[in-house]
Amino acid sequence: MSEPISRREFIKGATAVIGGLITAVIGIPTVAYLIDPALRASAKEDWIPIGKMENIPIGKPTPFSFTRVQVNGWERTATSHGGYIIRRSDGPDDLLILNSRCTHLACSVNWSENDQVYLCPCHDAKFGQQGEVLGGPPPRPLDRFTEFRVSAEGVLEIFYKEA
Ligand code: FES
Repeated sequence: MSEPISRREFIKGATAVIGGLITAVIGIPTVAYLIDPALRASAKEDWIPIGKMENIPIGKPTPFSFTRVQVNGWERTATSHGGYIIRRSDGPDDLLILNSRCTHLACSVNWSENDQVYLCPCHDAKFGQQGEVLGGPPPRPLDRFTEFRVSAEGVLEIFYKEA
């Protein structure tokens, strides 16, 4: 036969149970909030809208840019990217999309309308309209965004993949 519990023991037990419940109600969401960023990683690839097709002239390099925010645990890093779109004809697929990051040491190249070349301000490299190296230290042509699509609304999107 078990002994009846005393009033003191009952209050002690009830206090422990209520304290545990309060700790769980407050503690579980707090811990989840604190560790959530560590469990979440930002997408490493995505479709990025870069402009309306109707605003991209044929035959003239048109600049575009976008920013990616990478989340790694509690760390957020914003990086800027850019490039040039060259529409070769009316065809929606007849595009050349170059990354403006110089293949030497990653400075941004700029299109020079006067010289009809991309110039890198860091070490005077020159690239032709197709991105080919015309002079300077770059080891290879400008990189290209080879995957792109045009949405139903006529927006050109490129497929961005984190290197
Ligand atoms: S970074 Fe472009 S030439 Fe060096």
